[in-house]
Order: sequence, then C-alpha cells, then structure tokens
Amino acid sequence: MQAIAIENPGPDYRLVLKEQAQPEPAAGEILIKVAGAGLNHADLLQGKGHYPPPPGASDILGMEVSGTVAALGKDVKDFAAGDAVCALIPGGGYAEYAVAAAAACLKVPASLALVDAAAFPEALFTVWTNLFDSARLRPSERVLVHGGSSGIGVNAIQMLAARGHEVFTTAGSDEKCKACVALGAKRAINYKTEDFVAVIEAETGGKGVDVILDMVGGDYVQRNMAAAAMWGRIVNIAYQKGPKAEINFIPMLRKRLSLMATTLRNRRVKEKEVIRDALLTEVWPLVAAGKIKPVVEARLALGDAQKAHAIMAASGHIGKIILVP
Ligand SMILES: NC(=O)c1ccc[n+]([C@@H]2O[C@H](COP(=O)([O-])OP(=O)(O)OC[C@H]3O[C@@H](n4cnc5c(N)ncnc54)[C@H](OP(=O)(O)O)[C@@H]3O)[C@@H](O)[C@H]2O)c1
Repeated sequence: MQAIAIENPGPDYRLVLKEQAQPEPAAGEILIKVAGAGLNHADLLQGKGHYPPPPGASDILGMEVSGTVAALGKDVKDFAAGDAVCALIPGGGYAEYAVAAAAACLKVPASLALVDAAAFPEALFTVWTNLFDSARLRPSERVLVHGGSSGIGVNAIQMLAARGHEVFTTAGSDEKCKACVALGAKRAINYKTEDFVAVIEAETGGKGVDVILDMVGGDYVQRNMAAAAMWGRIVNIAYQKGPKAEINFIPMLRKRLSLMATTLRNRRVKEKEVIRDALLTEVWPLVAAGKIKPVVEARLALGDAQKAHAIMAASGHIGKIILVP
C-alpha cells in the first residue's frame, strides 16, 4: 500500500509517499480502507522526533481515520465488511489501509460524508474524557476552552454548546473568534488583543468559569487559576507555551481548585473503549443529528502530507485538516 514515511526526522523532517507493507488486523482489530486521515498537532511533534508512537503501534503518522471495513480480525463481533467507520488509532493513519481496535471504532451515520468523519475521533475522545471523566463537568456549568479554533477546540465548543453549557474560548485572530461564536461560543476572546482573565471576570459577574480545558500552559497556568470559579477544575492537554512556570498556589487553596493533565494516545484499549461507549450514547447522536458538524479547513491528497503539516504549523487553519488517500 501507499503510505507516508518520515524522512530525516527532526526540525527539517520530510514526509514522502512510499510503498509500505499493508497491516493485518490482529484479534479484536479491524482493517480499514482509509477514506480520510485527520491531522493532529502531535503529528508535527512526531515528525520532529519528539513524540514516538506507543510500543507496538505503527510508526506511520496518523492517530485517526475514517473509511470502510476491509477485513476483520478474530473475535470482532459488532462490525462487518463494508461498514462505514471512524476510529481512534495510536498510529498508522497516513496510509491507504490502517488497523484499529474495534473497541475504538464508531459507525459513521449516513448523514455524514465518510471522509469528513476523520475530523472526529481524536477530538471527541480527548474532549469527552478530559471534560467529563477528569474535570467531572456538571450540567449548566461554565467552561473556558483555550484554542477554540483548533481541531480540539471546534469540537469542544460544539459539544458543550449542544449540551447546554455556556462556553468561552480564546483564539488568535478576530476571524477565528467569529468562527468560534458561530459554532456556539458565548464569547470568543482574541488573546492577542484582550486579557482572557479580565473578560471572563466581566462576562461571569466576577464568578469565573467552573472548568477550563487548556492546551497552552506556560503563564496560562497561573492565569487560569485567576479565571476559575470556586471549586474550579483546570485540565491541561498540552503545554504549547512551555511545561514550566513559576506558580503562586495560594489561589488554588483559596478557591479549592483542582489542576490536572492527561494524554490519550498511550491509554489501554479498554480505557479507550469506555470513552467510545460514552461517546456512543452521549455525543454520537448529536453528530448524527448535525448538532456537531465536522469543521474542515482543507482536504488534501495523502501525497500532500508535507503541505498539510505546513498549513497546521502556520496555524492559519480553523478546525481540521484531512488527508485523502
Ligand atoms: N493530551 C491529549 O491527549 C491531547 C489529545 C489531542 C490533542 N492534544 C493537544 O491539543 C492541542 C490542539 O491539538 P490540535 O490537533 O487541535 O492542534 P491545532 O489545530 O494545531 O491547534 C493548536 C491551537 O493552539 C492555539 N494556541 C496556541 N497558542 C495559544 C494561546 N496563547 N492562547 C490560545 N490558543 C493558543 C492555536 O490558536 P492560534 O493559531 O489562534 O494561536 C491553535 O488553535 C495540541 O497542543 C495537541 O498536542 C492533546
């Protein structure tokens, strides 16, 4: 099969289309003929040599795909050849074929273009488990999502708005802020021209937000504490501004805050299955009903993976970038 290989991993990595061995599904796995492969920020890190796949996973880039079931491994019961699916995978997505644990697959509703279903798995699994499992988000609580125009952000805003939460978000341009409001954010804050702590204070009558989903880190760690409400929960999924900060922890004591952080990729299949099952009941019906839509900045041919990475690195995009084999 044709798949992307990383040449010269490091700051000047190159992505090239090459003939590579087609994977075979092991017990509990599905072979997917890929229709779309979603790009994730972590793919850029992997190209630079910083984010290796977990042991046993494909070293081909790509952590989410959509497509049709081409073959079934032993003991797979709930799927059949030809089914339209999308899947969270630990690697191997930038290819004509990929294997996925059946436990991390979702059937794609007929209302959704199969290629665009690749926009969902990584974001929905990540957003769900961080907001609901880690931060224990309760009905009608207020949420601040940093990076609202990211692949993660556009899905978080829609999921939260569809479930009745007041969502605030940050983004780096007025155009991105406008897009976030169109997706359901109550207020989008251009972090380059406004102070999110001051805006949250004004918008919430001084109460703050109950939960913060943060991918920025650095000085945001301290500022998040200032924007949080009493008993607030702050969950980090990345530290793009740096993993180190000098922190005054007194606001944590005073407001009884919780600070947490998680990654998804290295979790066991069983844990991913629990998240998948929650998505099936709580979120997938919203996708089928069109209340959570794929937000796709660009669909590029698989061979244009390098170009796709350049688009993401420049950060002009809103939503997801998808490769099409
Ligand atoms: N822990 C996990 O399990 C997990 C899973 C999935 C993703 N992630 C992380 O989540 C992040 C988003 O992933 P993605 O694939 O959706 O990437 P992406 O589309 O490239 O998004 C990155 C976003 O970060 C925003 N950003 C950068 N600096 C910011 C700042 N100072 N304030 C607010 N926003 C800022 C960018 O907005 P501007 O361009 O407007 O600055 C951009 O929207 C990445 O850091 C990724 O590593 C973590």
